Amino acid sequence: VAGKDDPLLVRPAGESLGQLRWAGEDWVDVGPRDTVTSALLTAGVCATSRSLKLRRHRGPYCLRGDCGTCLVRIDGRPNRRACLAAAASGMQVDPQNVLTPSGPDPTALADKLFSEGMDHHHFMVRPRFVNQIMQGVARNLAGLGTLPSHEPDAPARHEHHSPDVLVIGGGEAGRALARRTHTAGLETIVVDRIDAGGHLDPMAIDHAATGVFGIYGVEGLVAAMTHGSPEVLRTFRARHVVLATGATEPLLPFENNDLPGVVAARGLVSLLHRTGLRPAGPVLVVGDGPAAVTAGKDLQADVVALQDVVAVHGGSRVESLEVRGRKIPCRMVAVAPAPAPASDLARQAEAEVRFSGSGFEVVRDAQGQVVSRGPWQLWAAGEVAGVDRHEAADDGHRVGESIVAAARTSAGGRAR
Ligand code: FES
Repeated sequence: VAGKDDPLLVRPAGESLGQLRWAGEDWVDVGPRDTVTSALLTAGVCATSRSLKLRRHRGPYCLRGDCGTCLVRIDGRPNRRACLAAAASGMQVDPQNVLTPSGPDPTALADKLFSEGMDHHHFMVRPRFVNQIMQGVARNLAGLGTLPSHEPDAPARHEHHSPDVLVIGGGEAGRALARRTHTAGLETIVVDRIDAGGHLDPMAIDHAATGVFGIYGVEGLVAAMTHGSPEVLRTFRARHVVLATGATEPLLPFENNDLPGVVAARGLVSLLHRTGLRPAGPVLVVGDGPAAVTAGKDLQADVVALQDVVAVHGGSRVESLEVRGRKIPCRMVAVAPAPAPASDLARQAEAEVRFSGSGFEVVRDAQGQVVSRGPWQLWAAGEVAGVDRHEAADDGHRVGESIVAAARTSAGGRAR
């Protein structure tokens, strides 16, 4: 885990609102629309933890809450996704899964001795007493942070909601759909994992920083947790539940693809758009097909075909990309695969999915409805259903129309 270094992102002059504290000693500027991840990247902090098994350096990848590689300790609470948490002045952010939170990391010696990673499952397996010592050391090096330093300032609360329409995902499709159902007089709630920190359209997201973790068809219940103080456990029973969870960007296969500084291209584009930050140094896009072309344009970066990539090089962060035997210096590598529908929740709801070539998309009928068990009507809109991202808003609006029509015809329906 590294301290401050050359920045990966830069903010417009005069945009700093205060500072957060990294690893107990470095002060990091915070801008008005920063997440913890974007603030750290502007200070050049890229590696924020170590992997569980091989102790490889870990930093943010997806930049939108999908991958879990950005876990940090925030104000004494472990396992917070830095890419979802709004940064605030005075916040204390610490790395996880390291022996010393700052300064030289004695376990960095392992990087030299085990350059391919420390595989403790196959290391010192005999004699038995040596293996037991080794397992003790490995257990201390691995893990997912330590318990919270203190009780939460306020006890967690439970709130129950019974809207007409619950939309899971506040992207283009979810917001367009909610606008339509809201206009028709249906009580509509939109939840999204991103911590808006006041900088997303407050009319568009009802509950930000709210991650849905359970969708139980038989009970007709959706459960979510809103981070904050206090934390809020939210349960929902809605007549119409909409999956608008978008798509994820899977990693592409090349050597050192997990080095901090390798990020998902769309996550990076959306972060830059939201925060007004820009890359501080050269970015190279890796990928083939339309997603890579679009990312190259959005980031004004050269695109390298996957088949030409040999490896990423660097110590605790990206320093260069090796392409056909030539090392090209860069600060970030933006990976642009074909997006994979984010259908995990749909599968939990026992919805049918089918392979789309890059992932599993939700199967729905012409109106956007999904077959599922439960006392609700389940719908899917946008990329989770295999729709192109540029058509997601139109698709959301169209599925919103279907919900309004269904509400009008159902008993007691009250859509205008
Ligand atoms: S979950 Fe934060 S970068 Fe992927």
